[in-house]
Amino acid sequence: MILKRLLLLTVLSLFALTVSAQISAPPTFQNGVVSSADRYASEAGLSILQQGGNAVDAAVAVQFALAVTLPRAGNIGGGGFMVLHLEDGTVTTLDFREKAPHNARRDMFLDEDGEFNPDKSQIGGLASGVPGTVDGMISALERYGTLPLEVVMEPAIQLAIEGYRLTESQARSLNNAAENLSRFEGSKATFLRSNGEAWQAGDLFIQGDLGQTLRRIAQMGRRGFYSGITANLIIQEMQRSGGIITMRDLRDYRSVWREPVTTNFNDYTLHMMGPPSSGGLVMKQVLGMIEDRLDEETGFNSAEYVHLVSEALRRAFADRNHWLGDPDFTDIPNEELTDRGYLEQRMESFNPDRVTPSDEVSHGEFESVSEAYETTHFNVVDSRGNAVAVNTTINGSFGSFVTVTGAGFLLNNEMDDFSAKPGEPNMFGLIGAEANSIEPGKRMLSSMSPTIAVKDGKVRFVAGGAGGPRIITATLQNFLNVSLFGMNAVESITAPRFHHQWLPDRLLIEPLWFSKDTIDLLRKKGHDIQFVNSLALIHSITIDEEGRMSGAADPRADGSVQGF
Ligand code: DON
Repeated sequence: MILKRLLLLTVLSLFALTVSAQISAPPTFQNGVVSSADRYASEAGLSILQQGGNAVDAAVAVQFALAVTLPRAGNIGGGGFMVLHLEDGTVTTLDFREKAPHNARRDMFLDEDGEFNPDKSQIGGLASGVPGTVDGMISALERYGTLPLEVVMEPAIQLAIEGYRLTESQARSLNNAAENLSRFEGSKATFLRSNGEAWQAGDLFIQGDLGQTLRRIAQMGRRGFYSGITANLIIQEMQRSGGIITMRDLRDYRSVWREPVTTNFNDYTLHMMGPPSSGGLVMKQVLGMIEDRLDEETGFNSAEYVHLVSEALRRAFADRNHWLGDPDFTDIPNEELTDRGYLEQRMESFNPDRVTPSDEVSHGEFESVSEAYETTHFNVVDSRGNAVAVNTTINGSFGSFVTVTGAGFLLNNEMDDFSAKPGEPNMFGLIGAEANSIEPGKRMLSSMSPTIAVKDGKVRFVAGGAGGPRIITATLQNFLNVSLFGMNAVESITAPRFHHQWLPDRLLIEPLWFSKDTIDLLRKKGHDIQFVNSLALIHSITIDEEGRMSGAADPRADGSVQGF
């Protein structure tokens, strides 16, 4: 930990001295690269690439491996989003977000007095949406993979059955969650030591039940999870933990192929995730609001730059919270929200010298519309031109803390991402509206932002992250660091971040690298600044003009880049 901090400080101080020079050119690879939150998972993806699999095969291997080695976030009891750029130039996205169970009701998290009770939406069976990860991985593999499911799942099965040695941070995260995990028998049996002692780095961590669940999926595909033994175990767990997911919910779950949200910025074309993720539309809005206001003089993380981007974020998040939700339930005004004229109008109130307080910024209106830490992200790029960005989560760290007894995996607490009561913030301080109210079978709005940027027809940047709404800003800043400020993969991911999400009306700043002068200038403009040690975790891959691939894993946590 101390070493990591020292390394970060060294990188940071070098960065401050030599902004225009590359401070730590990362290793480059020609054949393929994987960047994820965990070494075993990145190695699983690498081994599939080395066996001749493509980026989609490798991505599925990484996702299942993360379900074993990053149980607090990587998952089969959750859901996520995938953005794919295929070798023939096809770009598409896969929505495998969880859905509200059929028995969900809009006021299910309100008490008798109509007050929102976040305990229910965050801990226990009622917090879980119907998991989408297994269907998503199988759909992606069926459509674009080249290897059998059994082959790509083998590394995960081995990691579960034979176990792996815990790192210091894996042991710490299990110990920190022990109190909440011990409330549920299945979680106690899976994640706590039987002798009651704390986990130590180097302990062998074996997950036999999870290994059997993964085998059932590998052999039977969807039926190994959404029906039969695993489904029965999920339903039994629902009964024990007060949940409402039924056999019908599991049987009916389908992931959905959706059009990407696409935009141009400078010489890049970005392909991003559309609703029910808000990532793509917020990023598109912000890029549209800032592009014409930036020039060569705009300095990296100068007060002028931070002010401009955060004022654009303020306006985009106000729109997000009002307009966005599941497109299968709500008309989303995609075109209107990202129309250049509209974005210009949103920025009419922008003052380069002063903040526009959030209570003076509301969502925009359109005449034409009939209204109706813990997550993880990984990327794989192969030498054929396939690129895959996957953002996946069970929401909070260890999700609902409920493990399916006998099946060995945690269930999500994604129901908290709905707007349980208008005006009430969720665990990320996000305040939603009607578009994101709870309805049976509906997907909850997300901030996950898997992103692929292309230049001259070639993939140049792949990224996404963890951190709730901060995922959007951190992914955006990562892209801007590469495209505007010429940083390499490691520089762009290490560089300090800031975040604004309209409400609460605060500018969050990672203090380590921002000079006092910059902070003072931002305060003079009226920003209410709050320092936060680390804002989001990003994993990325960049590819240079010669096709050399580099990966970066966020130095704010463990992460791993593997390539060949
Ligand atoms: O989908 C979302 O936006 C949230 N469920 C993400 C949660 C998250 O990033 C937690 N991690 N730090």
